[in-house]
Amino acid sequence: MSSYAITGTSRGLGLEFVRQLSQSPNNTVFAIARNPDSATKLQDLASQRPNLHVIKADITDPQSLSSAAASISKITNGTLDVLINNAVSTNQAAAPVPPSQIPLDVTATTEFFRVAYESSLFGAIWTTNAFLPLIEAGKDKKIVHISTAMADQHLIKNTGISLTVDYAVAKGAMNVLVAKYAAELAPKGIKVVALSPGWVDTFEGPKPAEYEGFVEYLLNSFRKIWPDLKGQIVPEESVRMVLEVVDGLSEEQSGLMISHHGNEDWI
Ligand SMILES: NC(=O)c1ccc[n+]([C@@H]2O[C@H](COP(=O)([O-])OP(=O)(O)OC[C@H]3O[C@@H](n4cnc5c(N)ncnc54)[C@H](OP(=O)(O)O)[C@@H]3O)[C@@H](O)[C@H]2O)c1
Repeated sequence: MSSYAITGTSRGLGLEFVRQLSQSPNNTVFAIARNPDSATKLQDLASQRPNLHVIKADITDPQSLSSAAASISKITNGTLDVLINNAVSTNQAAAPVPPSQIPLDVTATTEFFRVAYESSLFGAIWTTNAFLPLIEAGKDKKIVHISTAMADQHLIKNTGISLTVDYAVAKGAMNVLVAKYAAELAPKGIKVVALSPGWVDTFEGPKPAEYEGFVEYLLNSFRKIWPDLKGQIVPEESVRMVLEVVDGLSEEQSGLMISHHGNEDWI
């Protein structure tokens, strides 16, 4: 029986975290979404589950995170057991650009990285700091940042994936941030981890040819390390495995990036 707050829950893995966690009536689940009114799947679920509370917050807006923490605190009496920071945004136009093509221009370079940094670095800091007092008072004391193996240097080297620079670099920064938080918060018994959820099909609706082409490119790249790889897994499997890792999270794992297997097996 624990309380969980998850960011980015309108769709994808965030919605699946909410679905699986709120299945147990003993859990209290706070689903954070930046636009709850348009999150129809989340609202449908909340209408059926009294232990699920939908809370509005944008992880790039610190004030909205403060308000969300205050709303949750009223329900939990000032505590939160587990924070799962899952939300992500990137600059779609930056995805196909390798690092050598980033222009020699301050404004263009800042814009290239802005969206990814705001969500995966600043958003991770603001989300953590807004909820930290509640986590300190909670019983499980776990902070999970959903990261990606695309930020793992061995994976980049061995697959040769030079694209999605903004996303991978911002998540790499998130991983170092996680190590810093873990170092600071270990004396308080708080564990902080970066968790890569595997390669998961979270695309909603008909897939454009461009997206299919990118998936094919990734599949061929990943097969340089995992020759037998068939393709993406589904959100149900990824989240089930991630939650098992979160349940058993150890002090040794705190501060690191680990996978949905609980180790450095990324696929
Ligand atoms: N799918 C994969 O294969 C994969 C692999 C490795 C890592 N991951 C990581 O897993 C996490 C979830 O990925 P996903 O595939 O489920 O992503 P997704 O389908 O794109 O969903 C992203 C979610 O984040 C929300 N969001 C975006 N910006 C936000 C903000 N500023 N404030 C609050 N919410 C915001 C979106 O809400 P809106 O509906 O409002 O846009 C949406 O609910 C991400 O951290 C991602 O990097 C995914």
